[in-house]
Amino acid sequence: MSDTGPASVVAGLGAWLPPTVLTNADLAGRLDTTDEWIRSRTGIRQRRVIAPGEATSDLAVEAGLRALKSAEANEVDVVVLATSTPDRPCPATAPEVADRMGLTEVAAFDVSAVCTGFVYALGTAAGLIASGCARSALVIGADTFSTILAPEDRTTRAIFGDGAGAVYLRAGLATEQGALRGLHMGSDGSRSELIEVRAGGSRQRSTGRPAESADTYFAMAGRPVFAQAVRHMAASVRTTAQRAGWDMDTVDRVVLHQANARILAAVADQIDLPADRFPSNIDRVGNTVAASIPLALTDASSNGQLTAGQRVVLGGFGGGLTWGSVALVWPDLTAIGPEPLPDA
Ligand code: COA
Repeated sequence: MSDTGPASVVAGLGAWLPPTVLTNADLAGRLDTTDEWIRSRTGIRQRRVIAPGEATSDLAVEAGLRALKSAEANEVDVVVLATSTPDRPCPATAPEVADRMGLTEVAAFDVSAVCTGFVYALGTAAGLIASGCARSALVIGADTFSTILAPEDRTTRAIFGDGAGAVYLRAGLATEQGALRGLHMGSDGSRSELIEVRAGGSRQRSTGRPAESADTYFAMAGRPVFAQAVRHMAASVRTTAQRAGWDMDTVDRVVLHQANARILAAVADQIDLPADRFPSNIDRVGNTVAASIPLALTDASSNGQLTAGQRVVLGGFGGGLTWGSVALVWPDLTAIGPEPLPDA
C-alpha cells in the first residue's frame, strides 16, 4: 500500500442475492448428478439464480445501495464494478449502475478478473484514493454466471450461483480500523485456457465464422484449477500478511473466494491455520465469482464470525489466471445483506 497518499478505509458493506433458490435436488432432477456428489465434492447445497430478463446490473445496484446505507454515505467519487458477466459486451456496466443509484457524472468502470475481480477492484480503487484522484469509492462485485453456463454441463452448473456484494471505501489514515494494510495481486496468462468462454470476443469474431455453440459457454478444467487455486491463494495470503507486518498465526480470519469447500480446507492446511478461521457461506450460495468475497464478508459479519478489531486477510483466485489478497483490521460496521442466508 502507498506510504504517502491517504489510506483506503472500508466504511460500509452490503450484499444482495436474487430470491430464486436452485437446490442440488433441483439440479439432480435435470442433470446426471446427485445431491450427495455435489455436497461431498464442493460443499454446496444450493445457489441463487436470477429470473428471466434480469441482469448483473440489477444485482449490483441492490448491493451498492446497501453498502452506501451501511456506510451512511452519500458521496461517491468512483464506482468500480468487478464482473465477468456484464449486461452487454459494450459498454461497461458500471456507468449504468452508478446512474441507477443516483450517482450522476461519477467516474465508473468495470474490472474483469473473474473470481479475483473483487480483489483487483479493491486494489484499483485504493490506488485512485492513494493518488488523490478520489476521496471515496464504491467497489462492487456482481456476477450472473447462470447466464453463461451450458445447460447440460453438470460440473459448472453444480458450482456457480448469482449474486452481488459491495464495500464503500473512504480516504483515511493507515492506522484506522478498516484501512487496507497490505495488498498483493498476480496473474499467469499462460494458463488462460483453464477457465474461459472461448467465443464472442475479437479472436472468434474476426474469423467471420459463427461461433460453435459449445464455445459460447463458460468452460473450466476442474482438476488443474483446483490445484492452482490452492497454491496461489495460499501464497498470496501469506505475502499479504507479511506486507501488513503480521505473523500468519496472528491472523484472526481469512475470507477466501468461495470456490469449493475443499479448496478452503486445503488452503487452511497449507498456511497452517485452523479451519474455523475461514468463514464460509458456500453451502448456501455456491461460487458467486466476483460477488463471492463481499457476500462471504456480509454473511460472516452478520452472524458474528467477523468482529471489529480482528486481523483479516481476503484472498481471491480466478480466471486469467489471476489471484490476489488484501489485509485489514476489521472495522466497526453493520453489514446490510439481503437477509440472513438460510440453511439449505
Ligand atoms: N455430478 C456427478 N458427477 C460429476 C459432476 C456432477 N455435478 N461433475 C463432474 N462429475 C464427474 C466427472 O464427469 C468425472 O467423471 P469421470 O470420472 O467419469 O470422467 C468425475 O465426476 C470426477 O471428475 P473430476 O473433475 O475429477 O472431479 P473432482 O473431484 O476434481 O471435482 C470439481 C470436480 C469441479 C468440483 C473440482 O475439480 C473443483 O472444484 N475444481 C475447482 C473449480 C473452481 O473452483 N473453479 C472456479 C475457480 S475460481
